[in-house]
Amino acid sequence: MAHSRGHSSHSHGHDHDHDHQHDHDQGVNASADSEAAHQATVVATFDSYRQASLSANQRRRADYYALPKRHRDLLGDYKELLREVDEKLLVNAAFVQQMIEQNPFPPPQDAALDAPAPTDADHDRLRSTLRQCVRDWSEAGKHERDTTYEPILAALEEHFAGVSDEDRSKLIASAYILNHAPEPNSIPIYPYLHSLSNIRSKQDLLAPCYIPDVNPNEIAGGPADFSFAAGDFLEVYGDGPGSWDACVTCFFIDTARNIVEYLEIIHGLLKPGGLWINCGPTLWHFENDRDASSIELPLEDVKALARKIGFEISDEREIQTCYTTNQKSLLQHQYTAAFWTARKRQ
Ligand SMILES: C[S@@+](CC[C@H](N)C(=O)[O-])C[C@H]1O[C@@H](n2cnc3c(N)ncnc32)[C@H](O)[C@@H]1O
Repeated sequence: MAHSRGHSSHSHGHDHDHDHQHDHDQGVNASADSEAAHQATVVATFDSYRQASLSANQRRRADYYALPKRHRDLLGDYKELLREVDEKLLVNAAFVQQMIEQNPFPPPQDAALDAPAPTDADHDRLRSTLRQCVRDWSEAGKHERDTTYEPILAALEEHFAGVSDEDRSKLIASAYILNHAPEPNSIPIYPYLHSLSNIRSKQDLLAPCYIPDVNPNEIAGGPADFSFAAGDFLEVYGDGPGSWDACVTCFFIDTARNIVEYLEIIHGLLKPGGLWINCGPTLWHFENDRDASSIELPLEDVKALARKIGFEISDEREIQTCYTTNQKSLLQHQYTAAFWTARKRQ
């Protein structure tokens, strides 16, 4: 599961030195620089997908050739399998390239010079974006959508538009699919090709997922007022405008370093009587991150905290679901996601 980095320094610059104009300006510039560097790193990650994924497969090939000939002969068509993996990785690379060519967040020209080189975590994030394309936009992701998004939609009496995310890889993918509305099932991708562990058969490994399973133009049933806010949730909604009718958090609240702050912001952005719908586990994203502080509450205590902050919680349920899981894998992660609806007390 991905979380973002780098530009989170944003919020630090933002929090401090409000009373000191000079420092504050420096904070804004530093923040803009780090945002530009982050955008440039995202582009570099997309650009290097082809090379990074092929070289991981090349490592397998080198290990194969290092075996004694007798063992290679016994392995039959392993070499051919690796050739086919390369071939499909190139299909993924073409899609990744198409997405980045339509990047709605291009870095300023000179930022590329200062961009930190993509790390393993950056590559991981892009691979997770490919899996999320399946979760959100393919027939294979229907089970995950049905188990999580359906109860959320059912709980919303009306549909509201407006989504925030800070992970540019995901936003680039969403923008590509929503704005360029490719024909249904016209894009084959192979999102599970980056690991050969827990694969039952060559057919399973090499099977494509097609996206999108619907025409993105048709899902809104007409012109929709749909927007994304790219950025840290704490910054985008931190001012507590109290103007939203509803807020949905799906597999999200556990991305908090400080769950108290998250719940306060959700509370602050809603109108009195506004609806908060939550669905997700408590896989505290920063639990094992030595560089981040992290508060890790049991689920019951998250709910108790929400009540203290000013929510009336109802419709509490547990939902069995998965998250970007390869349904054909021999390893299946299953979540018991906590679902609730909550009203901001008047
Ligand atoms: C596990 S994913 C869930 C995505 C989506 N809701 C779903 O159900 O597929 C968590 C998402 O939260 C985003 N995220 C994490 N921390 C964030 C923050 N502080 N502000 C905005 N988005 C954040 C990540 O980029 C990631 O897309």
